[in-house]
Amino acid sequence: MSGELSPIDKAKFVAAKRAAEFVEDGMRVGLGTGSTAAWLVRCLGEMVRDDGLRIKGVPTSTRTAQLAREMGIEVISLDEAKWLDLTIDGADEFDIDLNLIKGGGGALLQEKIVATASDQMVVIADVGKEVQHLGSFPLPIEVIPFGWQTTQALVEETLISMDVLGRNSTLRMNGEVPFITDEGNYILDLRLGRIGNARQLALVLNQMPGVVENGLFIDICDAVVIGYGDGRVEVRDINEGTVATDRLEFVETDNLFSDLND
Ligand code: 5RP
Repeated sequence: MSGELSPIDKAKFVAAKRAAEFVEDGMRVGLGTGSTAAWLVRCLGEMVRDDGLRIKGVPTSTRTAQLAREMGIEVISLDEAKWLDLTIDGADEFDIDLNLIKGGGGALLQEKIVATASDQMVVIADVGKEVQHLGSFPLPIEVIPFGWQTTQALVEETLISMDVLGRNSTLRMNGEVPFITDEGNYILDLRLGRIGNARQLALVLNQMPGVVENGLFIDICDAVVIGYGDGRVEVRDINEGTVATDRLEFVETDNLFSDLND
């Protein structure tokens, strides 16, 4: 089965597998959303089943909650957990300072709330997510449905005075209808090309009345685990200023490699 994985999926898998080593018995763990985070949930599920790991997971989406339960991980709400030891999540882009664009899967609001309520946030990503400047990946912002076109016009107008290359945006669709987030909102994807000042942009966007949250994660991520298609992993810790490399073997197990459809 592992032979059927693409190099990108192998990279995502080894990043997730390595990051699972950060999880210790008794921890309250934020569980990210997306294909890389789904690998993590599967790895943690295996550790719960086979090694007796005891953790409480706080999922960042209904998708992740369902998968975590299927994998045998105890799921609790953020309010039950109150504070988390660690959150592990994917990203759409990360830069040298470990600032991120997230929300490709539409879960940026819960993801940011959960990551911010954690002692530590670790990002898991294939090497293709690393960028010099954030902004090639369209920046998702979550907006309330009421007056969304007015909010979109206001956002695009405001972008004129910001340090970005482009300012077109599109409403994210799910087939013929708007994509709806877990919180019942819409997503606008901003095609910015290059973001010169991500910190400033994040603040300005969140000041607009119809904007609920934006996908820029500034100073939230503590470490990134970067996976490569050949099994190499690199762990960069921004606080410690350390870089460690490792290599993981692909060990095929039915539980990990079957029915992954996220
Ligand atoms: C979901 C996210 C994801 O973490 C991001 O889109 C990366 O996804 P993937 O691991 O599938 O590449 O932010 O809202």
